[in-house]
Amino acid sequence: MSVSRYEFTKKLETGNAVIDKEHRELFQAVNKLLDACSAGKGRTSMDETIQFLNNYVDKHFAHEEQLQRQSGYPGITAHRTFHENYKRTLKEITSRISVSGPTIVELGNLNKHISVLVSHISTEDKKLGEFLNKQ
Ligand SMILES: [Fe+2]
Repeated sequence: MSVSRYEFTKKLETGNAVIDKEHRELFQAVNKLLDACSAGKGRTSMDETIQFLNNYVDKHFAHEEQLQRQSGYPGITAHRTFHENYKRTLKEITSRISVSGPTIVELGNLNKHISVLVSHISTEDKKLGEFLNKQ
């Protein structure tokens, strides 16, 4: 099965070096999981990439929230709510993949959920980057 890969393009840059670096690594973690799914690499390798991705998302979101708290970012509540919901749904999808394997349905759900992140980056995280740059 062919699976799309995610590319971190210049138009996704927020202008904050730390956030951009983490977003790049996030895309790599997503691509690794998609590779593991499509290559049928076996459960251990897939579960490792799943765990890494969830941990990385947790860490990165916490980091963004910390930057928002420190800077007094006005959109923090809505942004944090998005992060909470996002993490929960990501864990739900990836745990189903872990249990039942990368079915077409779950890979579709995963890809949809990744596009939600891409649009969050290109709107909300960009707003945050602009705010942080004005500090
Ligand atoms: Fe964010």
